[in-house]
This record gives sequence, structure tokens and C-alpha cells, in this order.
Amino acid sequence: MADLGAYFDSLTNTGLEADPSYWQAGEKLYRGGDQVRAIPACMACHGPTGRGNEPAKFPALRGQQSVYVMKQLNDYASGARPTGPNGIMQTIAKRLSPDDIRNLASYLQVYADHAPSTAGLVRRIGARADRLRQTAIRE
Ligand code: HEC
Repeated sequence: MADLGAYFDSLTNTGLEADPSYWQAGEKLYRGGDQVRAIPACMACHGPTGRGNEPAKFPALRGQQSVYVMKQLNDYASGARPTGPNGIMQTIAKRLSPDDIRNLASYLQVYADHAPSTAGLVRRIGARADRLRQTAIRE
């Protein structure tokens, strides 16, 4: 377990986005799965952009910190985190290699890094549109 702690530290310090091959491999697995190892595409349940599917109880993954994602996947694989009725995430997580987990976490982290700025942009555009509307009404 000490090794795993050091591993997490190194990831937190360098930032998983430091090596683009990590998130690129993560994106491939997230979107396409791996038929050879019977890993389904995460996208099928968690959505193409990681927003999840609320009614189906598939949680959103977008915006999750990489350390959190890695811990959940490792806990599913070890059985430390039980899953819903059919234990789908335990089955999937057991098929993931440590590199897969790192890559997936890196990919979701990239989303996490980008999500706030996109949201900020949308807010700024919205605020600007409101100002323009108010000006138009006054004039
Ligand atoms: C068949 C549907 C399905 C697929 C495919 C799937 N998941 Fe999940 N995932 C779920 C469900 C359902 C849960 C909630 C399970 C529970 O009760 O813990 C979950 C939970 C998770 C969580 C924990 C989220 C949290 O908020 O704690 C992570 C992380 C996760 N999945 C990652 C993945 C990754 C990475 C893949 C692809 C390798 C994947 N999942 C593929 C259905 C799926």
C-alpha cells in the first residue's frame, strides 16, 4: 500500500495531463472499451462526455479528481467498495490494469480541468447577452 501512496503522490504532483499519451489512451478505452479483454466502453453507461445517466443510476464521472477515480476503481477491483445489484463496476474494474486506471483517471481529469472554463465561458456569454438585451430595451 505504501507504493500506491507514493504513486498517488507522484500523480498529484506532476499532474496526469503532463504526459498526453495517458489521457489519449484513457480516452480510447473510455470511448471504445477493449473487446479482447472484455472491457465495455465506459461511455456506454457514463455517457460520451462523462455526464452519467441520472435515471439509470450511472453516476457522472466528469469533473472527478483523478485520485478519487483511481481509488474507486481500485476499491471496486479489490471488493472494498461494493456495487449495486449486479456488481457491474467490480467486474469491469477487475479487468483494468494499473495503467488503464491511470489513463482513465487522466482522461477524466482532463475533463475536470476543462469543465470549469467551459462553464465560465458559457456564463460570460450569457451575462453579455443579458447586458445587450437590457441596453436594447433602454434605447
Ligand atoms: C454497464 C454500465 C457501466 C459501464 C460500462 C461502466 N460503468 Fe462505471 N458505474 C456504473 C454504475 C451502475 C456505477 C455505480 C455503482 C455503484 O453503486 O457503486 C458506476 C460507478 C463508477 C465509478 C464511481 C463513481 C463515483 O461517483 O464514485 C467510477 C469511477 C466508474 N464507474 C468508472 C467507470 C469506468 C472507468 C468505466 C469503463 C472502464 C466504467 N465505469 C464503465 C456503470 C457502468
